[in-house]
Amino acid sequence: MGLSRVFLIALATFGTTLCDNPRAFESDYHFIDLPKSHLPLYFRRFPKLEAKCQADPGCEYRDAISTDTFQSRKELCWGYEDNCVESSRFSRPRCPGSHKGYVKSKETQLETFYAQGDFGFVRDQVREMRIMCEPTFPHDSALECSKYLRFCRGRNIMMNFTDLATRNEPLRYKMDVLSQGQIGGHCKLHRERLENELDHISPLQSWGPELRFFETLPQPLTEGWPL
Ligand SMILES: *[C@@H]1O[C@H](CO)[C@@H](O)[C@H](O)[C@H]1NC(C)=O
Repeated sequence: MGLSRVFLIALATFGTTLCDNPRAFESDYHFIDLPKSHLPLYFRRFPKLEAKCQADPGCEYRDAISTDTFQSRKELCWGYEDNCVESSRFSRPRCPGSHKGYVKSKETQLETFYAQGDFGFVRDQVREMRIMCEPTFPHDSALECSKYLRFCRGRNIMMNFTDLATRNEPLRYKMDVLSQGQIGGHCKLHRERLENELDHISPLQSWGPELRFFETLPQPLTEGWPL
């Protein structure tokens, strides 16, 4: 309500300058913003979006999709995607040295490298993702993490950094950046699930040092809490 009122006034007063706003001309596909060579791999993940773009004269990727280069790269994938078979991977590691002393076979050696130092690492993080705090309505707080909280994705999370302003030492390796009451969200917290992932706590390796203090907040953050 407040926003639309501001917009109308601006439109009435600065009607012509509105045309200078580049966002006003952004297409539905503008967010993709990737190098050309990444497009086949991107659209492979979102075939419906590709079809929509092909049918839409306003899609700036329409020409790129119809090129031979795009079509010849259509089977490619990065390696973290669910349906990405080994022969379609963007790159395949080679381990010319002996595997003996590390793992049982050449195959295991390659897979170990892939899982630890290549897109296999991303694949495993994605597979391990579990919801830690469940939203109760569409724009509610949410938190999901992979095993041992190595990778987390969240939205509308409250973090109170007020105390950090008065700390003078470097914080990079600190495990006490946040404490009780300084992190939380309005969502249904799976506390036991979160606590089960807290046994690899050390700096830079997981979000454990911060997330062990995660608590549920009484009010949705979308309503301007705590301002
Ligand atoms: C944030 O932390 C500071 C210092 O601990 C405290 O005074 C303040 O009330 C906190 N703010 C909120 C919104 O909880």
